[in-house]
Amino acid sequence: MTSVSSSAVQLPLASRIERLRTEGAFEVLARARALEQQGQHILHLEIGEPDFQTAPHIVEAAVRALHNGETKYGPAGGILELRTAIANHLTSLGIAAAPENVVVTPGSKPILLYAALALLENGDEALIPDPAYPIYDSVVRFAGARPVTYRLDASSNFAPDVDAIAASITSRTRVLVLNTPQNPTGGVIDEGRLTALAQLAEENDLTVIADEIYRPFNYGGAPVRSILTLPGMRERCILVDGFSKAYAMTGWRLGFGLLPTPLAPRFALLALNDHACVPAFVQRAGIAALEGTQEPLHAMIAEFTARRQLVAERLAAIPGVRIAAPAGAFYAFPDVSAITAAAGISAAQLATKLLAEYGVALLPGTAFGAAGEGYLRLSFATGRADLDRALALVHECFTSLPS
Ligand SMILES: Cc1ncc(COP(=O)(O)O)c(C=O)c1O
Repeated sequence: MTSVSSSAVQLPLASRIERLRTEGAFEVLARARALEQQGQHILHLEIGEPDFQTAPHIVEAAVRALHNGETKYGPAGGILELRTAIANHLTSLGIAAAPENVVVTPGSKPILLYAALALLENGDEALIPDPAYPIYDSVVRFAGARPVTYRLDASSNFAPDVDAIAASITSRTRVLVLNTPQNPTGGVIDEGRLTALAQLAEENDLTVIADEIYRPFNYGGAPVRSILTLPGMRERCILVDGFSKAYAMTGWRLGFGLLPTPLAPRFALLALNDHACVPAFVQRAGIAALEGTQEPLHAMIAEFTARRQLVAERLAAIPGVRIAAPAGAFYAFPDVSAITAAAGISAAQLATKLLAEYGVALLPGTAFGAAGEGYLRLSFATGRADLDRALALVHECFTSLPS
């Protein structure tokens, strides 16, 4: 127990609440918005949010549902029509799925929290990437377990080192978190590594949390392979997926998990305790997204493909920056360690300088873990005009530093 005090009252707090961590993207966004309120112009490359609007046919489906009175409580795990549409969609990707195994949540984030709560006891260990989406670390700690990191390295295009992961497994390891395509590095896990990781999970009786929310954003030609398509993996994996990125629906809060049979009713129960249900009209929008035209998604992928090239070329042209064009997602993760070392500052100090002095909001690699030192993350889900201006300012900032 710890306690917080205001003027008169001391509230006793459970220790678990102190273990929750924040997300750098939201913190920097809040700082950037505060500067905007003071009249400063900010270029937003910090948040992982497509600049595209949700497609009109998706919006219309929600509006229609509202007019039809779909404004009541519904089933905790999601309406059957959406769970069926999700199961059909996943099956079309080679991931055999039944509606009973799908649980719909407000965004995909709750699936990460529920997975930690459902799978980890005090003192258990979960293997998570470093750098990685910070919520993995947060929910593992919140559940009383210990995050054990495995490093993603630029020298292997940020793909996991299977031998290093194997060497980190102990009698307490319960969970292996995989994210492909990866935030923040853009790394994609190839089929050979996925097969080896699946074997490792089987041999060590690990549950795999497979976060594939960036699946459509893949610039390598062949579709991103899911570990759930490998033999025996469906009943050992929790698939984390959603509508935020693929359908430009971040603010709608619509995501889902595909779960092993024994876990699905438990996740629905967690949903019932947590938020009761996702609004039915939001779920109707999800059905329209999956079953309607995929043209807006294809247009977005085409645009991001062009921006990826632009960002990688412009960053590579700055002395001291090392970057390979990312294989997936919509983030560039340049190595700026030569610049930070010469200037005697950290990546976080460099990011702060870019925001305060140049009006460019982006994230230090360390917002994603210790292995992110010497890196920055730039989201190219931002319009080309803003990207162009931001890259010019980044260039100006870096060349102004002592080299
Ligand atoms: C890797 C990863 N997983 C999950 C999420 C959660 O997204 P949402 O809750 O909007 O579905 C994000 C959001 O940035 C992400 O980057």
